Amino acid sequence: LRVVSGIQPSGALHLGNYLGAVKQFIEFQERGEALYFIADLHALTSVRDGARLRQLSGDLALDLLALGVDPARAVLFRQSAIPEVTELAWILSTVWPASSVLRGHAYKDKTRRGLAASVGLLTYPVLMAADILSFEADLVPVGSDQAQHLELARDAALKLNQAYVPGFDADDPARPGLVRLPRAFMVDDRATVPGTDGRKMSKSYGNTLELFAPERELEKRILSMKTDSSPIDAAKPLDAPLLALLVALAGPSEAEEHRRSFAGGGVGYAAYKRRLFELFLGVFAKARERRRELAADPAVVAQLLAAGAERARQLAQPTLVRVRNAVGLS
Ligand code: ADP
Ligand code: TRP
Repeated sequence: LRVVSGIQPSGALHLGNYLGAVKQFIEFQERGEALYFIADLHALTSVRDGARLRQLSGDLALDLLALGVDPARAVLFRQSAIPEVTELAWILSTVWPASSVLRGHAYKDKTRRGLAASVGLLTYPVLMAADILSFEADLVPVGSDQAQHLELARDAALKLNQAYVPGFDADDPARPGLVRLPRAFMVDDRATVPGTDGRKMSKSYGNTLELFAPERELEKRILSMKTDSSPIDAAKPLDAPLLALLVALAGPSEAEEHRRSFAGGGVGYAAYKRRLFELFLGVFAKARERRRELAADPAVVAQLLAAGAERARQLAQPTLVRVRNAVGLS
C-alpha cells in the first residue's frame, strides 16, 4: 500500500490542515509506504517571493516532523527536487482535455479570492495528478476540498492509458496500463474545520488557529472569537464554531459534555474559550516542544529532505521510463 500526499508551503499550518490532512499522514505512515512532500511548485501559484517561499518550505518541513511525520517510516521531500514529476505533468497535459481543466472549482475559487489568474493556477490539477501518478499512489490522504483533484488524477491516468496502451481496459487486472489508476482514494469526509469566524478555516480568510503560533497570539485569537449575545443561562447555538472546535480537540466524553452544556445553557462563552485554549495547548504541547528542538538544528532537516528526495526519485523513475518509452521520447 503506497500513500502519497503533499501540502503547499503557502502559509503557516493551521488546525484545519492538521485535522484534515496531517493527522492522516501520521496514521497512514504506520500502515504502508508513505511519501509526503512539500508542494513548493504548487505554492508558486500564490507565493511570489523567493526568500519567503524558501522560508515557508523550511518551516513546513519542521512542522511536519514536529507533528510526527517520521523519517524512519515516511519519505519526506520537496516536490521541486523530483524533475520526473514536472516531466510527467507535461506529458499528462498533452492527453488531458482542456475542457476538464476549465471546469475546475479551485481555479474559480482561488481567482475570486484574489490569486493571479495564471496558467499555472489553471493547470494546477495536472501537476497534482503527476505527483500522484508518478509515485503510483494507492491512497491520497487530503481534506475533502481536494476530492475533485483526486477524481481528475484518476481521469488523467485513464486518458494516458487509453491513448498509449492498445486495447486498454481499466477493469482487466492483467493489463495494468502505463500508469496505475490509483485504486483507493481516502478522502477524509469528517466535517471541515471552521475558522474563528465560522467560515472554513483557511489561510486566505485570516481566521486560522496556527499550530505553532506564540501562546499569546493563540490566546488572543481564541478569546476574541465572535459569539452571539446569549446570556450565561441560555442555551447556545449548536452550530457555533466554538463548539465545533471544542469537539474537534476534546476527547469523546468531554465533547459530549460540551454538546450537552451548549444545549442546556448555564456556561458562558468566556469559559468555553478558556477551555478551548487549554485544549489546544495540551494537544499540541509535544509538537510545539519538538519543533523548538528541530529548529535548533537546520542541517539535520536539510539532510533528511535530501535523502527523501533521492528515495522519491528512485520510486518515480520506473514510471517515467515506462511513460517516456510509450510516448516515444526514448
Ligand atoms: P488553506 O485553505 O488554508 O489554504 P490548503 O488548501 O493549503 O489550506 O490545504 C492543505 C490541506 O489541508 C488540504 O489537504 C486540505 O484539504 C486541508 N484543509 C485545509 N483547510 C481545512 C479545513 N478547514 N478543514 C479540514 N481540512 C482542511
Ligand atoms: N493541492 C494540494 C493542496 O492544496 C496539495 C497537493 C499537491 C497534493 N500535490 C498533491 C495533495 C498530491 C495530495 C497529492 O492541499
